Amino acid sequence: MAYTEPAYAKLNLTLDILGRREDGYHDMRMVMQSIDLQDLITFTPQAEPGFTLTTNLPYLPRDGGNIAVKAANQFFQDNRLPVLGMSIDIKKNIPVCAGMAGGSSDGAAVLRLLRRLCLPELPQGQLEETGGRVGSDVPYCVRGGTALAEGRGEALTDLPPLPPCWIAVCKPPCSISTPELFAQVRVKRLRCHPDTAGMLEALSSGDLEGIAHRLYNVFEDILPRRYAQVFEIKAALLNMGAMAASMTGSGPTVFGLFPEREPAARAVQALSERFPATFLCRPAPACFPRQP
Ligand code: C5P
Repeated sequence: MAYTEPAYAKLNLTLDILGRREDGYHDMRMVMQSIDLQDLITFTPQAEPGFTLTTNLPYLPRDGGNIAVKAANQFFQDNRLPVLGMSIDIKKNIPVCAGMAGGSSDGAAVLRLLRRLCLPELPQGQLEETGGRVGSDVPYCVRGGTALAEGRGEALTDLPPLPPCWIAVCKPPCSISTPELFAQVRVKRLRCHPDTAGMLEALSSGDLEGIAHRLYNVFEDILPRRYAQVFEIKAALLNMGAMAASMTGSGPTVFGLFPEREPAARAVQALSERFPATFLCRPAPACFPRQP
């Protein structure tokens, strides 16, 4: 018997950095959105306790260095359960090191699967707390949908869903190290910040135009020159009719919002000739029902 769980990619509708914390992390304020670009996690029980990992990407770690294995170990440790024997397969579709929380999302899907199999009564909040011990984006990825993420990323507030739209997502071949980019941040020198309050209002009133106008990621303002492709892709998306375009997370993936499918599909087609990791996506709903 095999058990499967999708792991959705995330985009940042906004990303703001508020300050550096004593623990070396940064206080964030981010509006996060799941999209239907997804990895697939499959569990097959095995007799031997512990985890065996397989994946279609040969260069991913297959030991405790993989966030899926870290998440599984953390789940059994936090819930004081004996470790089960499990073969974990990850079919990766989300580009790695892309700013789309692909790894965090795989870890989160492992947590949801383990809850389903071992502890269906475990409150969602406790599962998210376990996620927080695995990585800053994991609690959001456990929940998914549209949410405000604050603190290190673990303080979550559900938001009204992004209105129906089409999203062209394009990852250039360069990769950016998240810790390196955070290390460049001088919070007091950040001159511009997203209009997060305006974004929340636009989401509440289902105003796609207002949402598009408020896409903003402060990391773009400190991006080293060698990532110029990020700005080329943004310009190309805007030229091809995107309402707005922004980088997600610590990049380098860029996305553009479109109200209609056709222009989004044309933009994806055009960009994919130069950048093979280009996808036509839609918003994805939360993995758990919204909290009252
Ligand atoms: O928590 P996670 O391992 O995903 O974070 C990766 C790195 O990103 C951290 O080591 C830290 O350098 C940086 N980070 C940060 N502030 C956050 C989240 C991540 O400085 N809120």
